[in-house]
Amino acid sequence: MSDFKKITAEELTANPFKLIGKDWMLITAGDKEKFNTMTASWGGVGIMWGKPVATAYIRPQRYTFEFIENGDYYTQSFFDEEYRDALKFCGSKSGRDYDKVKETGLTPVVDDETGAVYFKEAKVVFICKKMYAQFLNEESALTEDVTKWYNGDYHKMYMSEIVSVLVKE
Ligand SMILES: Cc1cc2nc3c(=O)[nH]c(=O)nc-3n(C[C@H](O)[C@H](O)[C@H](O)COP(=O)(O)O)c2cc1C
Repeated sequence: MSDFKKITAEELTANPFKLIGKDWMLITAGDKEKFNTMTASWGGVGIMWGKPVATAYIRPQRYTFEFIENGDYYTQSFFDEEYRDALKFCGSKSGRDYDKVKETGLTPVVDDETGAVYFKEAKVVFICKKMYAQFLNEESALTEDVTKWYNGDYHKMYMSEIVSVLVKE
């Protein structure tokens, strides 16, 4: 925790379109005993139910899915370019087959307040508390720009309160 300072969501100056879409993120769920992480580049931030929220979209076949389903919290860690290879690894290999911490050399940190796990090497971290979760579905898709991405494996959307924003000091 000492490498980071806690700010409010309103104080975040990073552009979320770049942060999520271009830098990518590691979504990490579980606890210090057992957790898993995966790369994601789809998602959003905003305000819902009067709170700052982040949305994440996870396909059910991801190993990370089980961890998100089973816990109240997860984290979104954003990195500088030097960690691109680590994010490529975590976005192409499953935690079912590899120890992603060992393979990438990233350092897990446990958040004191929530027990959620994030990474020391991150530049920005959102600690997220699940508020609402729902599978996307074909019936609700309005264009081929949506359906072309799926073969039955619709993402589950998690809309979560951003309970802490941590930035590198
Ligand atoms: C740039 C990038 C973005 C990705 N975004 C998502 C995403 O938003 N949702 C998702 O379910 N998978 C996404 N993936 C795929 C997962 O990261 C990938 O399937 C990963 O191996 C899952 O790991 P796991 O089985 O250990 O959970 C993305 C992969 C990459 C490379």
